[in-house]
Amino acid sequence: MKAKACLSFLLFLAVFVLIFVLWHMDDLEGRPKKSGGDFLLARLHNLKLEAGVVGQVVDHLNGSYSAVFSLLWEGDAQVEVTLVHPGEAISVLNRLNREQPDRIYFKSLFRSGSLSETTLCDVCLRPTQQPQCNYTDLRTGEPWFCYKPKSLSCDTRINHYMGGSKENLLNANEDKLFQRGVNLKVSIQASGPATVTVLPQKEGQLKVKSRTVTSGPSGYYYQGVWRALGGTTVREFNESAISQCLKGKAVHMNGDSTVRQWFEFLNAALPDLKEFDLHSPKQAGPYISLDYANNILLTSRFHGPPIRIVVVSTSELRYIANELDGLIGGPNTVVIFGIWAHFGTFPMEIYIRRLQSIRRAVVRLLDRAPDTLVVIRTGNPKDLNLFVSLTNSDWHSLQCNKVLRAMFKGLNVHLIDAWEMTLAHHLPHNLHPPPPIIKNMINHLLSYICPVKGS
Ligand SMILES: *[C@@H]1O[C@H](CO)[C@@H](O)[C@H](O)[C@H]1NC(C)=O
Ligand SMILES: *[C@@H]1O[C@H](CO)[C@@H](O)[C@H](O)[C@H]1NC(C)=O
Ligand SMILES: *[C@@H]1O[C@H](CO)[C@@H](O)[C@H](O)[C@H]1NC(C)=O
Repeated sequence: MKAKACLSFLLFLAVFVLIFVLWHMDDLEGRPKKSGGDFLLARLHNLKLEAGVVGQVVDHLNGSYSAVFSLLWEGDAQVEVTLVHPGEAISVLNRLNREQPDRIYFKSLFRSGSLSETTLCDVCLRPTQQPQCNYTDLRTGEPWFCYKPKSLSCDTRINHYMGGSKENLLNANEDKLFQRGVNLKVSIQASGPATVTVLPQKEGQLKVKSRTVTSGPSGYYYQGVWRALGGTTVREFNESAISQCLKGKAVHMNGDSTVRQWFEFLNAALPDLKEFDLHSPKQAGPYISLDYANNILLTSRFHGPPIRIVVVSTSELRYIANELDGLIGGPNTVVIFGIWAHFGTFPMEIYIRRLQSIRRAVVRLLDRAPDTLVVIRTGNPKDLNLFVSLTNSDWHSLQCNKVLRAMFKGLNVHLIDAWEMTLAHHLPHNLHPPPPIIKNMINHLLSYICPVKGS
């Protein structure tokens, strides 16, 4: 896969300047492509200023693409365009999610007395002669099934874990569509200049204040610090400012390991916050931390299945919606959730259904306690290899984020755009973003909890 990029023109409209980058994607045979559908990411950055912002990529459906950038700092800025997947790879991923959602598979151990048995489990199981146990959650309606053990009853299920992954999922030559350094998250070199210089704003020029719903970045980095464009001023919080902000609060985190990272960060940042040892399995939780002097309670719990981590006891399997129903809420309650990384093998319907049940619970929570703060963490781009692409691709995460935004639009909830915060940063993409990015996410979170007075 070869690709050429060139800056076609620059417009100095104001501080907000659009640059259009047009380029051609050549297909595997080296012919120029006539159709779109490739998954591209664009970023404008300046390493010395530790500045970065995500560009919006527009697919012209004829093999050409544009990227629109907001110019938000003065000085040099470099354009960076990354091909995440060619369109042909996206077709493979969509096919796999339709036909092979069980390519990551789950198991449960059943045990009673001296008898034990293990069977396959999933959101939906392929029909066989073997009877199934129906573990569909009665309150949320979230489906979950296991093949019934031969000699034990359905209520002897004691845990949930990831059983493994299937191999040989690709047809002939399809692996060529997922080659690192070739067509998998590969940087596209510019054939012309890829640097712009932003001049100081002149008087009378337009100032960009807020982001429109469909376009424009949600924020940008400057001197390594995330500045949100959605109206919230992100402040930096040192140790004492964090304690002061969280004083008297109960903060409940629910979701996957990317939410647990926030719990871990706060625990490490606050010496007076002490984790209570619940003897929980590492990764799975649940976790509780307390700061008695400041009356701070922090909890963290994994979302309900599918969960692809260590063995989780069935008695610790909780759906986020049910957890939210268990909260009184109020001005001293902060609810945080993030759920995306364990859904990458499924058709989008599975994720949509999960979010629908969470949305209903959020609406109930905000009805009974309107001043509860609800913060949602989106998914973020990852380090991709063939296996990760096939089971948890950035493509899928991006679709999840779109669904998430649409699902919670109009509700009094706050989003932390982990996608852009990871993409705009100079550090490499990682499922678990590195500490400098987490620190910015925590500052963003705390800025929601403790906004500047009068803003
Ligand atoms: C593709 O479409 C864009 C936008 O309509 C146009 O500017 C460009 O010239 C087209 N490119 C080709 C190769 O047709
Ligand atoms: C599983 O149980 C749920 C809840 O009782 C029910 O609505 C659903 O129809 C059941 N599914 C099957 C396949 O039996
Ligand atoms: C922490 O930040 C506050 C303001 O947010 C400042 O007044 C205080 O001096 C800082 N403390 C330390 C130890 O830097």
